[in-house]
Amino acid sequence: MGFRSLFCCVKGSDRKNQGKKEATWRIFSLKELQLATNNFNYDNKLGEGGFGSVYWGQLWDGSQIAVKRLKSWSNKAEMEFSIEVEILARVRHKNLLTLRGYCAEGQERLIVYDYMTNLSLLSHLHGQHSAECHLDWTRRMNIAIGAAEGIAYLHHYATPHIIHRDIKASNVLLDSDFKAQVADFGFAKFIPDGATHVTTRVKGTLGYLAPEYAMLGKASESCDVYSFGILLLELASGKKPLEKLSSTMKRTITDWALPLACERKFNELADPRLDGKYIEEELKRVIFVGLICACNRPEKRPTILEVVDLLKGDREKFAAVESDEMFKSTLVADSGENGRSELISDEKEKKQEIGSD
Ligand SMILES: Nc1ncnc2c1ncn2[C@@H]1O[C@H](COP(=O)(O)OP(=O)(O)OP(=O)(O)O)[C@@H](O)[C@H]1O
Ligand SMILES: [Mg+2]
Repeated sequence: MGFRSLFCCVKGSDRKNQGKKEATWRIFSLKELQLATNNFNYDNKLGEGGFGSVYWGQLWDGSQIAVKRLKSWSNKAEMEFSIEVEILARVRHKNLLTLRGYCAEGQERLIVYDYMTNLSLLSHLHGQHSAECHLDWTRRMNIAIGAAEGIAYLHHYATPHIIHRDIKASNVLLDSDFKAQVADFGFAKFIPDGATHVTTRVKGTLGYLAPEYAMLGKASESCDVYSFGILLLELASGKKPLEKLSSTMKRTITDWALPLACERKFNELADPRLDGKYIEEELKRVIFVGLICACNRPEKRPTILEVVDLLKGDREKFAAVESDEMFKSTLVADSGENGRSELISDEKEKKQEIGSD
C-alpha cells in the first residue's frame, strides 16, 4: 500500500473522529523540525533503533517532542513508516504513546511524538538510569498494569485489532509520573476480523520472541502475551531476557526464574536494587503471571485482558495460575514440557536469527 493511499485512509478516520479528543495530530514541516532539534544535532540524540535515530526537540510553544527520523529511504522503510503513522493516528489510550504528527518531504520521513521525560523502561532497568533506582515497587506494579492495559486496548478494543509484535523494555516509555506508554507500532500488523493469526516474516527482538512465532512466523495476540511475560520477569527481577553465562552460552530469564518460582524463593527472584522493599504477594503475582505468559505452549497463555485482571489482584484467576502443573516441581519444568530445559548456545542463537524482508 502506498504512502499516499494510507494517508487518505488516515484522513478519513480523522474526519470520522472530528470533535473527539483523539484526532490531534498534524503535519510538520521539515524546517520546523530542523529548528526544534537544532538541525538534528548529535547532542539532541536520544537513541537509535531499527527505524533510525530519535532526537529530542522543543517546539516554538515550548512543548518537548521526540522526533524519529527514518535512516534510509526504501520501499520497506516507507511501508513501516506508513504503518506506524496510520496505526498511531487511529489509537488513543492513556498507556499508548501519543502521536503528535509526521513529516514527509522529499525522502525525509519523520514521526513526531510527545517526549517522555523518563525515557524507556530499558534505560531504568539496564541503561543510563539503572544505578539511580527510580523504580520502586509501586512504580513497577503501575508500569506492569499500565503497559498491560495499553496492549489490551490494541488487542481487544482497537478496530481492527492490532498485534504489536515488538513488546520489549525499550518500547515501554515512561512519562514524568513514570506512567507506562507503549511505543513503536511500526512492526504492528492488523488482524482481519475472524482470523486467529497472520503468517508473516518474523520481526522482533531476540529474548522476547514466542517460539511458534520465531519458528513458524505465526503472529497472534498470544505472541505479544509471551513477550509481555518476559517483560514482567525483567521488571520484577532486573535481569535481562538473555543473560550471558560465558562467551558462548546464554540463559533465558524463564530458565532462570521457573525453578526459583517453583521453590517460592522470592527473595532470590526480586531485583536486588529493590533492597527487599516490595510486597511479596504482588511480586509473586508478577513472577507467576510472567512465567505463564512466557509459556512455550500458546494455548496455556492467558489473554492480555486476563493478565490485567491477574495483575490487579483477581484471586480466583491467580489461584488457577498458581496451581498450574508448570509450578509444581522443577522436574516438570526441566522435562521439556514447557521447553525450558536448555541453555542457548551462540550457534543456536544464530539459527534463530530474525528475518528481514
Ligand atoms: N517519545 C520518546 N520520548 C523519549 N525517548 C524516546 C522516545 N521515543 C524513543 N525514545 C528513546 O530513543 C531510543 C531509540 O528508540 P527506537 O524506538 O528508535 O529504538 P529501540 O526501541 O531501541 O528499538 P526498535 O527500533 O526495535 O524499536 C529509545 O530507547 C528511547 O530511549
Ligand atoms: Mg523502540
